Amino acid sequence: MNPITSKLPQVGTTIFTTMSAMAAEVGAINLSQGFPDYDCSPELIELINKAMRDGHNQYAPMAGVLSLREEIAKKVEKLYGGKYDPVTEITITSGGTQAVFTAISAVINPNDEVIVFEPAFDCYAPAIKLMGGVVKSLELNPPDYRIPWDMVKKLVSSKTRLIILNSPHNPTSTILHKEDIDELSAIVKNQDILILSDEVYEHLIYDGETHQSMARYPELQQRSFIVASFGKLFHATGWKVGYCLAPAFLMEEFRKVHQFLVFSVNSPMQYAFAEYLKNDHVYTDLPSFFSAKKRLF
Ligand SMILES: Cc1ncc(COP(=O)(O)O)c(C=O)c1O
Repeated sequence: MNPITSKLPQVGTTIFTTMSAMAAEVGAINLSQGFPDYDCSPELIELINKAMRDGHNQYAPMAGVLSLREEIAKKVEKLYGGKYDPVTEITITSGGTQAVFTAISAVINPNDEVIVFEPAFDCYAPAIKLMGGVVKSLELNPPDYRIPWDMVKKLVSSKTRLIILNSPHNPTSTILHKEDIDELSAIVKNQDILILSDEVYEHLIYDGETHQSMARYPELQQRSFIVASFGKLFHATGWKVGYCLAPAFLMEEFRKVHQFLVFSVNSPMQYAFAEYLKNDHVYTDLPSFFSAKKRLF
């Protein structure tokens, strides 16, 4: 007897687990999963050791260590201009994945429609389905995988609650441009449509392009959850620390879920990231760091 009705009957093991296991088995270079083949900064590791020695080994505050939230607010304002109140509008999460799940759980009710661009990072659709939401997919096509805004307009209905964006995009690496922002702004204007903007690859931007963060555009910022990941930022994917930015009215709902999902995220890493971010070179140098690797590749 099996009394369980699967909530996600179509879901098996993720492609990342399968591909990484295959790569390990045959000794192949593993380009399938988003983690680097180089280590994170020794300084960061030292800062974590110090945080542990300094006694930061108990629960962090529910929303995250305040000094880290303050540094994030400074970083976001410096790079994109958007202001976030560290107390009410920034929450530290267990990686970008938890931020995505928490945001979707906080705002999607049964039968709400969510527009997702495929191919998409694999955690979006399951979270929507678990909440009883309806995934409305639109395909991104070669050669440039840009968003087909005419089709988005046709897909939007009174049930559309959320549009999920991911720029720079996994897996195609396409990015949003200013024209995309204009199209998006026109579509959501005067509509009850929220945006979940997965920006975990915000620094993988090349050739003089600009990262089109929702934090650059006040009207979009006011309806967006922005998801970021220190794992991606500082080459430490195994630590699973990230954050979510959102206006206070959205963050209030986000935290209602967050506090019962994880309550809080590991303390020493948060203290270490807070110290590390005080030197803004650790992120302003990232584009040239990644560009050099791209050229080599
Ligand atoms: C587009 C995208 N969003 C989110 C994540 C998850 O980030 P994290 O490891 O911080 O949970 C990944 C990881 O590969 C990703 O590619």
